[in-house]
Amino acid sequence: MLNVVVFGSGRGSNFKAVLDAMADGGIPLARISLVISNNASAGILDIARSRGITALHISQKQFETEALFVAALLETLRSHGTGLVVLAGYMKRLPPPVVHAYRNRIINIHPALLPRFGGQGMYGIHVHAAVLAAKEILSGATVHLVDEEYDRGPILLQQTVPVLPDDTPETLAARVLRVEHQLLPDAVRLFSEGRVDLNGNIMPLRSMQE
Ligand code: GRF
Repeated sequence: MLNVVVFGSGRGSNFKAVLDAMADGGIPLARISLVISNNASAGILDIARSRGITALHISQKQFETEALFVAALLETLRSHGTGLVVLAGYMKRLPPPVVHAYRNRIINIHPALLPRFGGQGMYGIHVHAAVLAAKEILSGATVHLVDEEYDRGPILLQQTVPVLPDDTPETLAARVLRVEHQLLPDAVRLFSEGRVDLNGNIMPLRSMQE
C-alpha cells in the first residue's frame, strides 16, 4: 500500500478529488496517511479531519531555525511511512533536504501547461490572468515531479482546455480546475501502480504484464 502525504495551503479541492477517487475504489493501491498545511485555518485541514485523516499544521514559523523545521518535516514524513508526497495547492517551496530525501517521489499539480506560466509568482488566479494576457487559445493543467525549483521538474501528465473569447481569469480557472481534479488522482494511481519511472515517464500498462 502506497502511503501518500498531501501538502496544501488552501481550500483543498484537489486533495478532496484524490480522496473521492480513493473512496470510489479508483486508487486501490494507495491511501492518504497525512495532510500537512502551513496555514492553520486552511480548508484542506478541515476536509482531512472530517474524513478521519491526520491533519497537521506545520509551518517554518513554528521553529527557531530552518534546520529544526526540516528535521520536524522529515521525522513526520518518516513516521507516516511516506511513499509519495503530493503538493496540492502548497504555497511554500519544500526545503531542499526534503526534496532530496523524497526525490522522484514528490508531485505537484499546476493550473497551466508547464513549462510556460510557471515559476515564482505564478500561482492561483495570477496564472490564468497571465494566460489571458498572452492571448493563448489553450491552457490546461500539469502534474510534474518536484525538484528544488518551483514548477520545474519532469512532467508526468498534462491535459489541455480551450481558452474561450469571453473568458475571465475566474472562468478559465474553473475550467482548468475541473481537469486538475481528474489529472491528480490519475497521477497518484499511476504512481501506486509503479508506472512512473525516475524521469517522470509513464510506463505503458503492457510493460507491467510482461
Ligand atoms: C490549484 O489550482 C492547483 O493547481 C494550484 O493551487 C490550487 C489549489 O487549489 N497549485 P485547491 O486547494 O486544491 O482547491
